[in-house]
Amino acid sequence: MRKIFLFFGPPGSGKGTQSEAIGEYFHLPVISTGELLRHEEKSGTALGKKIAQLIDKGELVSDELIHKIIVERIKRADTAKGFILDGYPRDAEQLQDLLKMLSEHDLILPVEIRVSDKEVINRLGGRRVCDCGATYHIIYNPPKVAGRCNLCGKELYIRPDDKPEIIKDRLAGYKKSAEPLLAYAKKHHDLISVDGERLISEITEDLIEKLSKYA
Ligand code: AP5
Repeated sequence: MRKIFLFFGPPGSGKGTQSEAIGEYFHLPVISTGELLRHEEKSGTALGKKIAQLIDKGELVSDELIHKIIVERIKRADTAKGFILDGYPRDAEQLQDLLKMLSEHDLILPVEIRVSDKEVINRLGGRRVCDCGATYHIIYNPPKVAGRCNLCGKELYIRPDDKPEIIKDRLAGYKKSAEPLLAYAKKHHDLISVDGERLISEITEDLIEKLSKYA
């Protein structure tokens, strides 16, 4: 039986941070559509340039492209025991698409990370990222050397979609699309919902305890 963790939460709620920690603990790969899209963007292809135009404005990429990306990624051998989805499904259409890809033997474990709008703005304003995928916060999770990645030493930067006006649009988009996803998760599965306004380590411990019941 594959375990499929679905991480839900507004932008900046800590989906990326927590899914990485949980993936490491349960030895499951993390599939982040945001990361996969940013990777394509950096490749400089025509498709990458098109993706950048949408992401930088906080707009969603087409369901068709996301479907292709997910299908390709799920095919890889490291997903045999399960995987963690961060940032997917994002709306009711993507949810239906995902369900078609899964089997009745798969165990779906939805996780919601709750944070207030104020906290989202606070967090994304201080987020710094590296090309290698690592994420920091200037106050809550600072790198050892200011402005430099702990893992590869490269210079950190601010994501173009972390501008205040774009954050507001992303938050509004999330609120609109999350409702049917959470309603589905509550109706058909045990939705694990955690308070995301605590220390990163506290949330990780809480999630590990709750998810271990299913491991
Ligand atoms: P994506 O990268 O998925 O962005 P998002 O969902 O907006 O989420 P974020 O990455 O902003 O936040 P997060 O919840 O992962 O928080 P993080 O751990 O980084 O998608 C980007 C774009 O790609 C989308 O806007 C869209 O255009 C496109 N896209 C992606 N998926 C798509 C899809 N399925 N369909 C269509 N388009 C798609 O944490 C945030 C900050 O807070 C960090 O600085 C971190 O260090 C800090 N932090 C984390 N936890 C805590 C804590 N407990 N206390 C204090 N600080 C904390």
